Amino acid sequence: MRSTRWKAASRAALALAGAGALAAGMALTATAPAAAGTTLGASAAEKGRYFGTAVAGFKLSDSAYTTILNREFNMVTAENEMKMNATEPQQNQFSYGAADQIVNHARSRGMSVRGHTLAWHSQQPGWMESMSGSALRQAMLNHVTQVATHFRGQVVAWDVVNEAFADGSSGGRRDSNLQRTGNDWIEAAFRAARAADPGAKLCYNDYNTDNWTHAKTQGVYNMVRDFKARGVPIDCVGFQSHFNNESPYVSNYRTTLSSFAALGVDVQITELDIQGASANTYRSVVEDCLAVARCNGITVWGIRDSDSWRASQTPLLFNNNGSKKPAYDAVLAALNNGTTPTDPPTDPPTDPPTDPPTTPPPGSGGCTATVSVNQWTGGFVATVKVTAGSSAISGWTIGIGLPSGATVTNAWNANRSGNTGTTNWTNVAYNGRVGAGQSTEYGFQANGTAGSLSPTCSAS
Ligand code: G3I
Repeated sequence: MRSTRWKAASRAALALAGAGALAAGMALTATAPAAAGTTLGASAAEKGRYFGTAVAGFKLSDSAYTTILNREFNMVTAENEMKMNATEPQQNQFSYGAADQIVNHARSRGMSVRGHTLAWHSQQPGWMESMSGSALRQAMLNHVTQVATHFRGQVVAWDVVNEAFADGSSGGRRDSNLQRTGNDWIEAAFRAARAADPGAKLCYNDYNTDNWTHAKTQGVYNMVRDFKARGVPIDCVGFQSHFNNESPYVSNYRTTLSSFAALGVDVQITELDIQGASANTYRSVVEDCLAVARCNGITVWGIRDSDSWRASQTPLLFNNNGSKKPAYDAVLAALNNGTTPTDPPTDPPTDPPTDPPTTPPPGSGGCTATVSVNQWTGGFVATVKVTAGSSAISGWTIGIGLPSGATVTNAWNANRSGNTGTTNWTNVAYNGRVGAGQSTEYGFQANGTAGSLSPTCSAS
């Protein structure tokens, strides 16, 4: 059931848009989503994605705000109302009024809700800030259990843990009262959330994790890989993606999204804003998400620039007066132009295929391979592009000789033999068949220096 939740959210939005948004019992009039392809939510839904925004509860009485919210978006994140200080202001006294108002507003209009956030070093209630040790651990787990239980069945996903990694070059955890209860606090929070709401997707969410070469990104990646290996219940990773002059969008963002997805988790862009709202950068972000099958959706962190936590950076899609900015048009166009992603979902399909499989013809036109390298001090990521010749191929093997000192540490979208010296790479089940003249990609990360790599390709 969990694997279908994102698609269910976007399907619901699509159905809502296509049906004129007049589902029985829903108070939708002028604010109903328009036809598919003309609003962010409808266009995203056509691509099997959602498009969301952060909502501040006190703005729900502002009709200019709710007109845009109800027209454009099909996913909602409470900007502050589900945080620990809002939901448990006194220990064991829970307060859900402001959050419930947002959830009800969203769900009664066919929008889904992303829960933000169950455990965080920031915005803790005062009583929790002064706790430590096992008392804090128990209080945190109780909070996760109570809040996830309250919203059970109402949120499609939880940011179970937010911002637990340190900035800078360490790649390690951020110091906090929660971290000082023991390094296993994150997995304990995930297990408690799963027990409380087995139907919700459980996500880790952080900022400055967009650049694949950054230590913080690698630190989170290693944690998620470890969690998947040990069966810790994690389903998704949220990339906040607050882009600004100090932390700009980078072209390896797509590599970051696809690399996490290759671990077997969904990925989402959860708090997008871009200083200056460059249309080109917004377009690139959307295209990057659409290129990754497991990138389920995008949430912008507010509606109008004046709603932003960084209002002076004018980072959002709507002007203060509610009019659409060029970035809006770029996002909508990118959603409508999006192509079908090529990387596969790792969850098994729910419906068996009805057509008998066709036998691919044997390849006769061979293949070629090229490699692009993103090198940093001490390591690199190689992206290998495999292109079929004049005939379709049904499998491929790539040979790459690595220079002395280079050691592969992880790879995605290919099977590997060898991690130093001569390495051989073969297709995995889903990317062996490549049409005539078409391409597929795989990648790997390594320590050391790549130098000049010359891949060979043989087809089958
Ligand atoms: O509601 C009170 C108001 O009564 C009071 O007069 C005023 C005085 O400062 O504060 C108001 O609360 C503020 C609240 O936003 C609502 O506007 C808080 O001080 C302020 O700290 C809070 O800031 C929020 C911030 O998280 C807190 O860390 C931002 O709205 C919210 O956008 C921001 O969101 C975070 C995500 O949760 C995690 N990722 C980063 C992102 C941006 O910082």
